[in-house]
Amino acid sequence: MKSKGLFIVFEGVDGCGKSTQAVKLAKFLEDSTGRKVIKTAEPYNLRELILGRKDLSKMSELLLFLADRAEHVEKIIKPNLEAGNFVICERYEDSTRAYQTGGHGVDSFIVEHLINDCCFPLPDVKILLDLSPEIAFERVKARNNQNDKFEAEGLELIKKVSDYYRNFLAGFIRIFCDNLNEDEVFQRIITGLFLSAGAGYSNGRYSS
Ligand code: TMP
Repeated sequence: MKSKGLFIVFEGVDGCGKSTQAVKLAKFLEDSTGRKVIKTAEPYNLRELILGRKDLSKMSELLLFLADRAEHVEKIIKPNLEAGNFVICERYEDSTRAYQTGGHGVDSFIVEHLINDCCFPLPDVKILLDLSPEIAFERVKARNNQNDKFEAEGLELIKKVSDYYRNFLAGFIRIFCDNLNEDEVFQRIITGLFLSAGAGYSNGRYSS
C-alpha cells in the first residue's frame, strides 16, 4: 500500500519567523528522511487579489481565503500527501480563524461553519511560533511591505490576532520565541515534533 505523506503547518502573527523555520525544517526533513518535502504557503494563488484590495468586505475576504485554499488543497496539498510526500505549509485554517475572526471580527460561528463545510485535509502537526506582538510589529515595520494590507494595519491587528491564537486556538506545538534566536527556535521545533510523534500526535501517519 502506498504510504501517506505528513502535513505540517506553521502558524503565527506576521513577523514571527514562519518562513525562516519552514525552510530549515524542510531541509532537515529532506536530509534526515530522504522523503520529498514540499514547502508551500497561503495565501496561494489569490494573494495579490486579497492582500491588495483594501475595500473588500470582511465576508468576501473570508470567502476569498477559502477559495484560495480550495485551489491550494486541490493542486498542491492533496496530490503531494497522496504521493507520500511531506508538505510544510505556512498558514492554513487557523490563520483564517485568527485573522478573520480574531483580527477582523467575523463571527466565529460563520468562520467555523464554512471551514468545516470545506472538508479540507487536517494537518498532522501544527506549530505555533508565539512571538510578542511588539517584537513582531518591529519586524513587520522593518520590512515595510506596502503590498500587504494586513501588515499595514499595524500593531493593533497583530495584538488581536496574537490574542486569538493564544486564547481561542489549540492543538499546537507552541514555541515561545521572544528570547530565542533562529537556531534555538528550530531546536525546540525538532524537540516538539519528536515528542509529539512519540505521543501519537501524528496518528501513525509518519511511518511508511
Ligand atoms: P503572509 O504575510 O504570511 O504571507 O500572509 C499574508 C497575510 O494574509 C497575513 O497578514 C495573514 C493573512 N491571512 C488571513 O488573514 N487569513 C488567512 O486565512 C490566511 C491564509 C492569511
